[in-house]
Parts: sequence; C-alpha cells; structure tokens
Amino acid sequence: MPRFIALIPAAGSGARMGNQLPKQYLSLAGKPMIYHAVHTLCSSSHISSVFVILAPDDHEWLRYDWSSFSDKLVVRYCGGATRADSVLNGLKAMQSEVSICNDDWVLVHDAARPCLSVAQVDQLIDVLTPDEVGGLLAIPVADTLKRADPNHRAMGTASREGLWQAQTPQMFRLGVLMDALNKVDSTRITDDASAIEALGLYPRLVLSDAYNFKVTYPQDLALAELILQKRETR
Ligand code: C5P
Repeated sequence: MPRFIALIPAAGSGARMGNQLPKQYLSLAGKPMIYHAVHTLCSSSHISSVFVILAPDDHEWLRYDWSSFSDKLVVRYCGGATRADSVLNGLKAMQSEVSICNDDWVLVHDAARPCLSVAQVDQLIDVLTPDEVGGLLAIPVADTLKRADPNHRAMGTASREGLWQAQTPQMFRLGVLMDALNKVDSTRITDDASAIEALGLYPRLVLSDAYNFKVTYPQDLALAELILQKRETR
C-alpha cells in the first residue's frame, strides 16, 4: 500500500497582507492561521505524517502549543527563497527522515488555505490514488476574465472556457515531484502542478469548492473566520 504524507510550505512572508507578521501566523478563529491546515491534515486517517517547512529564521512557531498533534507533526526549518524551493527542501527532509519511497504520495498544501476540510482531503486521495500522474483540487473559473493594460483599462476579454483555478492540496508521487522540481526554474512557478506539467504530464483536476480559497488580502481573513466558525457550530 502506498503511503500518504502531507507537506505544508510555510516559509513565505505574505507581503500582500501588508502585515509584519508572516500571514501563516495571523490570528484566525483564535489560532494562528497555519493551525487550521495542520489540524485538518493531521485529522485525515489516510495521512501518516504532516511536515511543516518553516523559514530558517522563523521565530513564531515555538510561541504556540502543537503538542496535541504528537508525532504525526514534523517541523523543519529549511524553507527556501521561493515556494518551490521550500517544497523541494521539504521533500529532501522527508526522504531523509521517514521511510518513504518514490511511489509514495505527497500532498502539498498551502498554509494560507485554512478552510480545507478533511472530506476534501479524503476525496482527493480516493480519486487520485489509482491515477498515473496525480493532481490537485481546483474549481472552474466563474468570473469573466479581462486582460488589462498598465493603466487598468480592459484590452479584451479572455475566454474562461476550460479554465480552472488551481488550489491545494496538490498530490503527486514523491519521485516524480522531486524530479519535476529539480528541473524547473523555481522563480517561474507558483504551484507544484506547473512543474509536473513541464515534464509533459497532465495532472488531474479534482472538483473542489470556493471555501478552500487562499487567504491573500486583509479582507480574506474575515471570510475565512466566518467559514471556520460556521463549521464549528455544526
Ligand atoms: O505567497 P503565497 O500565498 O503564494 O504562498 C503560498 C505558500 O507557500 C504559503 O504557505 C507560503 O508560506 C509558502 N511559501 C514558502 N516559501 C516561500 C514562499 C512561500 O514556503 N519562499
């Protein structure tokens, strides 16, 4: 049976939030934002370990109590200059620390997607385990898309047909993902699937929902808080 290991790259600064504190530590429903992704991934019975990859100079992580996640949670301070570098460093750490083989599955999930549910994780695993390539959660684009000039004037309307918004987790076999990330220019990609596509492979898009959005701008925090609170009261 293949194993499933989660990896959360959390070495970014979250500059677009306009806050001194890296966004993964902003307070959300009484916890640092990253807590919610850690909790969800640790709660999936399919996942054997959850690796969190922090910046080498991270001073925030140890300010919180993570003991409830026990040995399932592994934290390493080996983040890199880009998200792809952080993921690759995390995969190398994973390889040297748990008995994992190239055919095992890695689920890479952004710390800034706190509203992921355990049901979504389990569905992703169910759909992709028999798949040759792997894939990612995603949703079809709903809005009309404009191409803008530098003065923010619409130069045209791009067809949204066949366009999907990529989310995370993105689930690929360890060996293929390492190979892909080693070959790609890490400054040019913003997700793992792009590296896989550059190998000529076609990641599968697994239908997700808008709740699994990425907290990017200050107003996103309030929306994430509402979603998490509603889920708690159910
Ligand atoms: O900046 P963005 O929201 O695209 O970051 C996505 C994820 O990648 C976040 O969880 C962030 O902490 C992580 N990241 C990282 N190392 C970097 C840049 C971003 O781990 N150098």
